[in-house]
Amino acid sequence: MTLKITWYGHACFLIETDKAKLLVDPFLSGNPLSPVQADEVETDYILVSHGHGDHLGDTIEIAKRTGATVISNFEIHNWIVNRGIEKVHPQHIGGGFDYPWGRVKLTIAQHGSSLPDGSYGGNPCGFLFYIQGKKIYHACDTGLFFDMKLIGEEGIDLAILPIGDNFTMGPDDALRAVKLIEPEQVVPVHYDTFDVIKQDPYSWAAKVEKETSAKVTVMKPGDFLEL
Ligand code: NI
Ligand code: MN
Repeated sequence: MTLKITWYGHACFLIETDKAKLLVDPFLSGNPLSPVQADEVETDYILVSHGHGDHLGDTIEIAKRTGATVISNFEIHNWIVNRGIEKVHPQHIGGGFDYPWGRVKLTIAQHGSSLPDGSYGGNPCGFLFYIQGKKIYHACDTGLFFDMKLIGEEGIDLAILPIGDNFTMGPDDALRAVKLIEPEQVVPVHYDTFDVIKQDPYSWAAKVEKETSAKVTVMKPGDFLEL
């Protein structure tokens, strides 16, 4: 079966596999562009890349309501367990785990990761998914790093990359990231949510398609693609 991948704005995606729904970085109630609310979204797993509010988002509320299992690094795992969430699975950078729906490996990300109360959130991460024969790399919040080349060696079907600048890679570095990763397809994210990360994804897409062989899909919050 195909994977259905829906963008909920910013860095948040719902990935629907044959066996489970996965929600990544559920920043919904704080995001005016989100097409779905925290009290209505359905999921079986929540993946949290780092502790910043625009990624941790509504994780606690959604996990409590849905009973979803939260996957994160060990430090965020501890923080979440202390807030009463029992279904959790800690991993850490470089480590992958085989879930009933597929595998996810935590990748490095050049960023920070304090939690909303100032607690230490460990190192931030990206996610490399291996699901139903497809490989999806969600870089989450990061600057450009040359080891994206190593991630690309795995043969990426879909790369989800921030282009917003200011807090993460901007358009120029995101183009360089595409050249390192060489994915089949790219979706730009983490732009327009706030004034300081306003970007034109269509001009970025045109440049990427001119300079690389990757196909760029510019999504609007609520849009989905199939893989
Ligand atoms: Ni962040
Ligand atoms: Mn962010």
